[in-house]
Amino acid sequence: MNLKDLYIDFFVSKGHKQIPSAPVVPENDPSVLFNTAGMLPLVPYLTGQKHPYGKRLCDYQKCIRTNDLDSVGDTTHHTFFEMLGNWSLGDYFKEESITWSFEFLTEVLHIPVNRLGVTVFAGNDLIPFDEVSYNKWLSLGIPEARIAKTTEDNFWIAGDSGPCGSDTEIFYFRSDDEIPKHFDVNDERFVEIWNNVFMEFFKEKDGTISPLPQKNVDTGMGVERTTAILEGVNDNYLSSIWKDVIDLIVNISDLPYEGHEKSMRIIADHLRTAVFIAADPAGIKPSNTDQGYILRRLIRRAIRHAKQLNIDINSDWEQQIAKVILNKYKNYYKELEENYNVVLEVLQNEKIKFNRTLEKGLKEFTKFTQNQQNIDATTAFHLYDTYGFPIELTMELATELGLKVDEEGFKQKFKEHQDLSRTASSGKFKGGLASNGEMEIKYHTATHLLNAALKVVVDKNVHQKGSNITSERMRFDFSCDHKLSDEEKQKVEDLVNQWIKSGFDVTVKEMAKEEAISSGAECMFIEKYPDIVTVYSIGDVSKELCGGPHVKNTSELGTFKIIKEEASSAGVRRIKAILE
Ligand code: SER
Repeated sequence: MNLKDLYIDFFVSKGHKQIPSAPVVPENDPSVLFNTAGMLPLVPYLTGQKHPYGKRLCDYQKCIRTNDLDSVGDTTHHTFFEMLGNWSLGDYFKEESITWSFEFLTEVLHIPVNRLGVTVFAGNDLIPFDEVSYNKWLSLGIPEARIAKTTEDNFWIAGDSGPCGSDTEIFYFRSDDEIPKHFDVNDERFVEIWNNVFMEFFKEKDGTISPLPQKNVDTGMGVERTTAILEGVNDNYLSSIWKDVIDLIVNISDLPYEGHEKSMRIIADHLRTAVFIAADPAGIKPSNTDQGYILRRLIRRAIRHAKQLNIDINSDWEQQIAKVILNKYKNYYKELEENYNVVLEVLQNEKIKFNRTLEKGLKEFTKFTQNQQNIDATTAFHLYDTYGFPIELTMELATELGLKVDEEGFKQKFKEHQDLSRTASSGKFKGGLASNGEMEIKYHTATHLLNAALKVVVDKNVHQKGSNITSERMRFDFSCDHKLSDEEKQKVEDLVNQWIKSGFDVTVKEMAKEEAISSGAECMFIEKYPDIVTVYSIGDVSKELCGGPHVKNTSELGTFKIIKEEASSAGVRRIKAILE
């Protein structure tokens, strides 16, 4: 059994419910491109909202981080990774959390106790030394010399404000050297494998810390790192997670891994991430903005490195690699199964597009740099505009020759160009709203009413899981454990129509995110809010965090009609509806 399955089975046996991984593209949050940590989709529940699955949860969560994309190519960095997590939402606390982590590591994964070291919170002016965790570790058999006390490293928060608390971190001695008796946190042979955060506080923007209404546990363990450790390899790409992909690249390129590690790792990593972005229900396609731009960069960078390995770009190399990745993960993430062909098509189309200009662009680049000349803004922009070279690619090529690129100048040119060709690009916000026509706006407001009506008629714990709007219809996904009965559907429809007839005003208010959440505003799985959020209210029947736009009064909507109700995925139902 692999790590993910062992982990989930273990925590389910301890009374946890497995929750599905949230999509890599956050559904309701225009402020971030990707979900970057396992706990982020759970923020509303850590701050008090009731989770439909209960108080003990576990999952494996897809995460994407592109901030250190340039580091990919070494032994440990990945742009996509999976994080294992277990949570207590106001249920168990430190003792159980530590006991179960220890049991999982030593009895399920069979890690010898003498390879472990832990850290606990040493205490500061605000929060005392974490004696409970310290004593728990001692009682489980971790010797005093292997328990380090730190202050900064043992307090965890995502960003500047939000739910937070002290943590205890578990380290593994990853070396053949003799294991030192004493655990020194600066000894890099000890690598962190698990972080158990005891989230009992909320930190405001101004730095004040107050207790949360409940004490939570949030733990996170990286799948790639832990797998490599368990398999005793010092290069993540040599673990079973990557081996088949790397072997395939070796095979296609007919070159050994040794000596070509960097390009092979980049191809493996970037194509895996591209597969997950392209498969996401958000329907991202390569483009020059936002997630689409990241997708484009990843694919183009992979193509460039494939070229460096002398792979015939016109062959189906990327299809072969993507298929291995899709097949490996599709049993865990249904969107890979559902969008299998979409992913393959996205990769192929982008390849064909880039391939048309890549060769010429590279020639142009070589010509320009033959006198070891740094790259000015005009040339960088020319490479981008004419040959489709993302600026990052030009910079990577330049760095390889020890040359510089005028990045600032490029950005300036890019902006001028954008201003000239600006379209209605401000129309990219929540709710799967593709364009901003009158009908789309009406449907958008109707989704808020539907969301609220489902809570009244079906269950107050129903939450939005996704939505997609065209000028013809709306589609709305929501958490719900059963098929709606005809009666339920009728009641929902009637209630929405009653609200439409009532002619409620739709009002918008900007407020601090904490205020919005604590006032009970509805939000989907949220990764990270901007500090100031907009909240749309419809009479007093609905209140949601949302980017808008909406109609002014519900009477503009016409008649709401449910066309179809069906399963979308496990625990998620889908309603298609129209306005007449
Ligand atoms: N929030 C913690 C982390 O990301 C534990 O999940 O490390």
